[in-house]
Amino acid sequence: FHVDWDIVTAEKAGFDHFMLKEVYDQPKAYRDTMGARIDASGTKVLLPEVGMTREQIADIRNVHIIACGTAFHAGLVGKSVIETLVRIPVEADVASEYRYRSPIITPQTLVIVVSQSGETADTLAALREAKRNGARVLAITNVVGSSIAREADDVIVTWAGPEIAVASTKAYTSQLIAFFLLGLYLAQTLEKVEAGYVKEVLAAMQELPKQVEQVLAQADSIREVAEQIAKHHNLFFIGRGLDFATALEGSLKLKEISYIHSEAYAAGELKHGTLALIEDGIPVIALATQEVLFEKTVSNIKEVKARGAQVYGIHMEGNDELSKVVDETFAIPQTHQLLAPALSVIPLQLLSYYASLALGHDVDKPRNLAKSVTVE
Ligand code: G6P
Repeated sequence: FHVDWDIVTAEKAGFDHFMLKEVYDQPKAYRDTMGARIDASGTKVLLPEVGMTREQIADIRNVHIIACGTAFHAGLVGKSVIETLVRIPVEADVASEYRYRSPIITPQTLVIVVSQSGETADTLAALREAKRNGARVLAITNVVGSSIAREADDVIVTWAGPEIAVASTKAYTSQLIAFFLLGLYLAQTLEKVEAGYVKEVLAAMQELPKQVEQVLAQADSIREVAEQIAKHHNLFFIGRGLDFATALEGSLKLKEISYIHSEAYAAGELKHGTLALIEDGIPVIALATQEVLFEKTVSNIKEVKARGAQVYGIHMEGNDELSKVVDETFAIPQTHQLLAPALSVIPLQLLSYYASLALGHDVDKPRNLAKSVTVE
């Protein structure tokens, strides 16, 4: 009798790669990260791990969000969420830049550091700099007991579970969930939003795990697009607002594991230079989930279409307008505008996974990259 598996195979739980397993772990990661942080009536966010009093929260004048890589992209979504809900100015920086640009940190600055591992050297150094300047530091991390978790004043743990693949997926989306909760928590504490609004967003958040499953059920159609994209050496991701943040993450994911060069562009900025690179047949992934920006994004899509681009559009279900202007569309389920990144990034994760697979690369351990970077 011979059992043909080893411990690593067992940990992959039947998936070919850790990355794919982790992509499919996301519904659970969303549920676990929300967990007991939404009260039973679905009207309030509970974040006892944020030890600030109402007065201390009211005293915050500005927020700095600091992170590296994928966590930085979660930070960009966090910036939008906090500014929209709390109306406090938020800056987001990559950690390796933050310390050297003489940021204006005061005791009334809330510094939020985001790190899956909790060990990234640049992020840790930025945390220390912030504390030296008297700021309160809140960490969003996936590792309880990590250096960043130990040194921060407040810690929101993302309950994504261990992430093994170098390319971050479930840790990223759990960071988004953490930011949605934090934004709502700060807004509700300061009474910046109506109770009905909080309830509406929380109800939409609780739908997300099921909606992620619906997106994952369409993996085959994304695989077909990925196999087309794998034939190209260059492509673009475009979007506006939150869609731009998602575009940056989609582009990074593709570069990390498929080694295909791509650029993420704020859709409205293309015409200021980069449009020169659009030529016949170049793939453009266009995100258009944000209702208020939809028409504007469509006009940018027309600009690239007119120059021969092959456009794949991502939009929200119920808005089929995009199919009239692009070559192929992918619909994510209907959700609240602010939450869209938690769904629209899923097809992009699958896209990079299947492109890497088609090219025969080592999906879980891409060349030159490390899961955790502990040098500055
Ligand atoms: C490395 C990883 C990235 C990750 C970044 C930040 O570069 O390859 O996937 O986004 O570090 O890691 P952290 O653990 O701080 O989130």
